[in-house]
Amino acid sequence: MNFVDIILKKKAGLPLTDEEIHLFAEGAATGSVPDYQISALLMAICFQGMDARETTTLTMEMMHSGDEVDLSDIDGVCVDKHSTGGVGDTTTLVLVPLVAACGAHVAKLSGRGLGHTGGTLDKLESIPGCSINISEADFIRQIKTIGCAVIGQTQNLCPADKALYALRDVTGTVGCIPLIASSIVSKKLASGAGAIVLDVKTGSGALMHTLEDSVKLAEAMVAIGQQAGKPIYALVTGMDQPLGTHVGNALEVKEAIDILSGQAKGDLLSVSLELGSRMLVAGGQADSVEEGKEKMLAALESGAGLRKLEEMIAAQGGNPAVCRDTSLLPQAPVLIPVPAPASGYVSGMDTTAIGYCTQHMGAGRALKTDVIDPAVGLVMQVRLGDYVEAGQPLAMLHLRSEQQAKEAISAMQAAVRLSDVKPAPLPLVYAYVSADKTVYADGYGPAK
Ligand code: URA
Ligand code: CA
Repeated sequence: MNFVDIILKKKAGLPLTDEEIHLFAEGAATGSVPDYQISALLMAICFQGMDARETTTLTMEMMHSGDEVDLSDIDGVCVDKHSTGGVGDTTTLVLVPLVAACGAHVAKLSGRGLGHTGGTLDKLESIPGCSINISEADFIRQIKTIGCAVIGQTQNLCPADKALYALRDVTGTVGCIPLIASSIVSKKLASGAGAIVLDVKTGSGALMHTLEDSVKLAEAMVAIGQQAGKPIYALVTGMDQPLGTHVGNALEVKEAIDILSGQAKGDLLSVSLELGSRMLVAGGQADSVEEGKEKMLAALESGAGLRKLEEMIAAQGGNPAVCRDTSLLPQAPVLIPVPAPASGYVSGMDTTAIGYCTQHMGAGRALKTDVIDPAVGLVMQVRLGDYVEAGQPLAMLHLRSEQQAKEAISAMQAAVRLSDVKPAPLPLVYAYVSADKTVYADGYGPAK
């Protein structure tokens, strides 16, 4: 088969056969089809889309393109959770220890920061000694002994996705729902989880800014799970502002520890309970979402969640004492507040800009080769709907040097919108997506 014919077919808006999709995935994984032809087909897919069958076929082809983790040696259902990426969004470090403390087995495959979003692996590596490069055998052993492990994508997991992702990143073809859905779900399936809870972000800091697109992405991923025989459940949650107050690697680890030790609460905990309770239901540790939340809160109050995080950090080579003394985490030497340029209600945030602001400070990578500064970032002092007087701090910057302050202050002042009118509160969960239905928060569904 001539690859040009496949490109022409998709360009004309026709569905590709399973065989054609196989050639596409295999050609990307092995390099047997040149990048320019793969890229042309990616762009045609962006314009013409893929139907449910094509998207599932692409997912399965990418999943089978490399190693697949076999977790069948572990008793019960291993659950995983995946977020499409956000800012100040460290639900993993809050919910993994809590649900593991409730008896669930969590096999969590995490990623690094991407663009303006933070990544769990970078956060874990800010803990002195903590490693995310664990062999498959140790991964399984750790889940059997302490109930949870968080590791990075091994070298040969979904090589087709690796190749396609790298091309999409540089050809303007990232933002395409069937490509995103197949990319995410293929990795989740290859990592062996028995059930998956997805956190699809929506709003100014999300991959998908509109609720309509976010729900479409969630529905596409749930449909793939359904066809692959894997239970997948998705929540569409708000990324209209950083989820937690802390943005930056060691700072986000600190916030997770503060929550697990009962010293902090807020939206980060609330979303972690929404996601984690559904993991407990999927894993069979709770009969209902309500019971799951109660169990997680009991594990929080008893300190069992914090002890589980200590065990996980220790098992992965890190210093567990950070859980009792967060000053053992890397600390930035310079703290400078961002003054509000005027008085008013906090009426909106450009959350992507806040993510990029911390990236420029060193908390993320602009180039693949950049080295992250684990200590830097910021702590938000306001949330949407708060009233501030001119000069009051919007955020506290944690910087490597004073020279970084000027740019970060103007970026943050531009990212936080102030207005005379108090904005209406936004929901934390906008939609609940399961295989048989999508339920919206009150007032948010499509017009009837
Ligand atoms: N995360 C992924 O793994 N793939 C995408 O396409 C987008 C986000
Ligand atoms: Ca295989």
